[in-house]
Amino acid sequence: MSDLMRRILFLPEAASSLAPRVDRMHFFIIGTTFVVGAGIGLTGLFFLVRYRRGRAPAQEPAVAAPTWMEAAFAGVPLAFFLLWGALGFQDYVWARTPPRDALDVYVTGKQWMWKFAYPDGPGMVGVLHVPTGTPVRLLITSRDVIHSFYVPAFRLKMDALPGRYTELWFEAVRPGRYPVFCAEYCGLDHSRMRAEVVALEPEAFESWRARQLAQPTWVADESSEEEGARGPLARRGAVVATRQGCFQCHTIDGSPHIGPSWLGLYGREEPLASGDSVRADVAYLTESMMDPLAKVVAGYAPVMPSFHGRLSAGEVGALVEYIKSLQPERPEPPPAQEP
Ligand code: CUA
Repeated sequence: MSDLMRRILFLPEAASSLAPRVDRMHFFIIGTTFVVGAGIGLTGLFFLVRYRRGRAPAQEPAVAAPTWMEAAFAGVPLAFFLLWGALGFQDYVWARTPPRDALDVYVTGKQWMWKFAYPDGPGMVGVLHVPTGTPVRLLITSRDVIHSFYVPAFRLKMDALPGRYTELWFEAVRPGRYPVFCAEYCGLDHSRMRAEVVALEPEAFESWRARQLAQPTWVADESSEEEGARGPLARRGAVVATRQGCFQCHTIDGSPHIGPSWLGLYGREEPLASGDSVRADVAYLTESMMDPLAKVVAGYAPVMPSFHGRLSAGEVGALVEYIKSLQPERPEPPPAQEP
């Protein structure tokens, strides 16, 4: 029934625990307004036919409604408004009260991307991984202007305000990839300010998280003595990348963002916007840092700034080593099947 209604009304799939509640409210309001609208339309039609001007001289009909009828005209709509209000308030309170055991995720909007960070570790640009069947609390803020975090499949929308945190929670009900949009006009690339929620089964989420924590990307301290399996230069590259803001556009988990993901990039043959292709070797990676617009990978906007003069030769080498180290360790199945 609900699925049929969703299809009739062109609604996206309902993939969170909140979605059926929002949809139920939506169907109820649409249903009642439809009944009332049809009633008014049919009455109008009836009057049009019944009291049309005929051959006979028009006679003024006596207009007088009994009090009970007037009371009903005011009272029945009022009762429906109150009912809408009561049901809506119930859902509102539910939607705004995160369960205590919710997993916290920090969401930061900035022109023009979404960043996600877990309190204990990995941060991501453009992709939010969550476990299914687990409440997730989002703490949303903005670095610059007002954005709005919008996940249609979850019926979730919340403004991201600079200098303030807004809160929202949800529970994904089945694995899948769900698009995120910015729903507040925020500048030139507003329409491209997209992201994705990847909902994974709890076990798959845990292993994803363990893999992320094992990556050297989020080492913030350059002087860390800890020996990484990937070698010191690659680890230094991770630090340089974090500092230079590379992760604002490049991910390391294989998902494309503003630029190509670095996972498995090294050594790959990349198609170029010009129609040629290029192997992502040391020469190409270096060139793309110094003169990024010379060879833009097909499907990406030519927006990368030049890092000429901003990176030392050592830092370029460290970045290349880091990108080299980002190879998929085993052939990985896609994290979640398409819904
Ligand atoms: Cu951010 Cu529109």
